[in-house]
Amino acid sequence: MDRRNFVTKGLSAAAVAGLPLSVSAQAANDNAPVKRRFEGKVIIITGATSGIGKAAALAFAQEGGMVGFCGRREELGKEVEKEIKQQGGEGIYIKADVTQPEEMASFVDKVVKRYGKLDVAFNNAGEVMFGKLHEITLEQWEWIHNTNVRGVFLAMKYQLPHLLKNGGGNIVLTASMHSVSTRPGAAAYASSKRALLGLAQTAAMDYGQEGIRINVLSPGITDTPMFRRSTGDSKEKVENAKALVDGLKRIATAEEMAEAALFLASNDCPYITGTSLLVDGGMMSGL
Ligand SMILES: NC(=O)c1ccc[n+]([C@@H]2O[C@H](COP(=O)([O-])OP(=O)(O)OC[C@H]3O[C@@H](n4cnc5c(N)ncnc54)[C@H](OP(=O)(O)O)[C@@H]3O)[C@@H](O)[C@H]2O)c1
Repeated sequence: MDRRNFVTKGLSAAAVAGLPLSVSAQAANDNAPVKRRFEGKVIIITGATSGIGKAAALAFAQEGGMVGFCGRREELGKEVEKEIKQQGGEGIYIKADVTQPEEMASFVDKVVKRYGKLDVAFNNAGEVMFGKLHEITLEQWEWIHNTNVRGVFLAMKYQLPHLLKNGGGNIVLTASMHSVSTRPGAAAYASSKRALLGLAQTAAMDYGQEGIRINVLSPGITDTPMFRRSTGDSKEKVENAKALVDGLKRIATAEEMAEAALFLASNDCPYITGTSLLVDGGMMSGL
């Protein structure tokens, strides 16, 4: 599948999300030349069995990258690996839970052994839940923080030695618009995603002079299995979500969010580090 088909495929998801075709066509920029920004680069992605991570795995591979990715659901992981190969790309799924140090160490190790080095890490795996602080359990709090913060710490801990050995590279962390502005009942999620900004900023200073850039992608509402689960697949809730986006009045596709991740992970703007890119369709623009 070439890049144009890939983008078009993304837009059919946009159509599902109610995106008018004229806007789709504009967003796709169908006449743009095929980009190969990751030719010969090795990319690690956490949480690529579905949603944004899966779209990013396909897009990195489409641009020439060799992609090693993880997630816990083996069947889905194998399917993504198959899709990458079907589009002529190179990728490998390795089952790993981001909260488990041994699994993360072994995942990173296996990818580097297979492809010989590491250039880019997209630490994207995450979980969400809502509930007032006095109502959520310690287990729920730890589940969210273990996945969203400890998981990213572990990933970076094992990836950084390889990026240092490589003489540089790029790390992108998936936070959320909740790291900018949040909603009632989002304490566990918002606090975990805000922690990633601190992590990225300090790491950007610690490793900038070693040629490693570290940035955060803060997605707005994106049409993924996570979003669908949160709406209970209710049409009314999906429409309500679109109405919340004051700017574009639609939710993002996973492919659009992946494009933002690829931009941060690329050398399109080598001066960007220690920052967060809010990709929210204008949702946070108003009062
Ligand atoms: N969708 C949105 O509206 C939205 C908005 C803002 C931010 N985000 C963030 O975007 C990221 C991707 O979410 P998504 O919307 O694409 O949801 P998704 O489709 O549910 O994808 C989440 C991914 O994370 C993986 N994951 C979760 N826990 C894991 C663990 N312990 N170990 C390994 N992998 C794990 C899942 O894989 P397995 O289940 O196979 O392990 C899955 O591949 C998350 O960090 C999320 O917080 C999403």
